[in-house]
Amino acid sequence: MKIKYLSFGIKYLQARINADRFHHIIYKSKFRKIESIISRKVDFKNPQRISIGKNVNIQSYTWIAAMINDLPVIKAFDPWIEIQDGVTIGRFCQITISNGLVIESDVLITEGVLITDTIHGYEDVGTPILRQRMFNRGPIRIKQGAWIGNGARIVGSVTIGKNSIVGANAYVDKDVPDYCMVGGIPARILKRYDDKAGKWVKCRENLA
Ligand SMILES: CC(C)(COP(=O)(O)OP(=O)(O)OC[C@H]1O[C@@H](n2cnc3c(N)ncnc32)[C@H](O)[C@@H]1OP(=O)(O)O)[C@@H](O)C(=O)NCCC(=O)NCCS
Repeated sequence: MKIKYLSFGIKYLQARINADRFHHIIYKSKFRKIESIISRKVDFKNPQRISIGKNVNIQSYTWIAAMINDLPVIKAFDPWIEIQDGVTIGRFCQITISNGLVIESDVLITEGVLITDTIHGYEDVGTPILRQRMFNRGPIRIKQGAWIGNGARIVGSVTIGKNSIVGANAYVDKDVPDYCMVGGIPARILKRYDDKAGKWVKCRENLA
């Protein structure tokens, strides 16, 4: 009985992998560049403006959108998204870009993370915000080896430093230097890597 379940499980996994491989053939014609096999449960908008490098892992129910001029509230945007080699993006992330985003190699983005350079206009109080024009404040760059914790929000024109850490639920709207740990709303620097001491050192600094 156990063997029956095991062989059913293996067949199910094989079918899913084959379906993703088949889908990859369709993806290849749609993306600007794609060198990794990505689950069909990832939702892409305008893949012709998205490039994905090698060994990239993007998990289910994540939404990655290059926002172009296909809604009346979106001005003539010209976005691009580059996801470099070895990046992992967890489930339930929202990545909505109307200017530009580079996620450099070997970045880890965990679950439920928001990354956006786009904002709804709200100046006209006589018009529902949904009907007001959207603006972009990008671009965004997440440098090599950074780690973005669960539920973090990266918003606006922001660079996250090399091997830096964005703590769970942080709200980041300013640049994070290399080798820093940030957390909180708005995010502040919690630790810095001290080169001389050769270790991470606690601090409390506002982001500039
Ligand atoms: C940021 C993080 C990595 C720090 O871990 P750590 O090095 O063990 O941190 P410490 O416990 O030494 O905390 C240092 C200080 O920062 C504070 N801090 C830590 N994480 C924080 C966060 N996310 N937001 C606000 N403050 C935070 C701590 O309370 C502590 O404050 P204190 O100096 O007043 O005591 C961790 O807290 C975190 O957020 N991890 C993300 C987890 C995650 O998303 N996992 C997904 C699976 S990969």
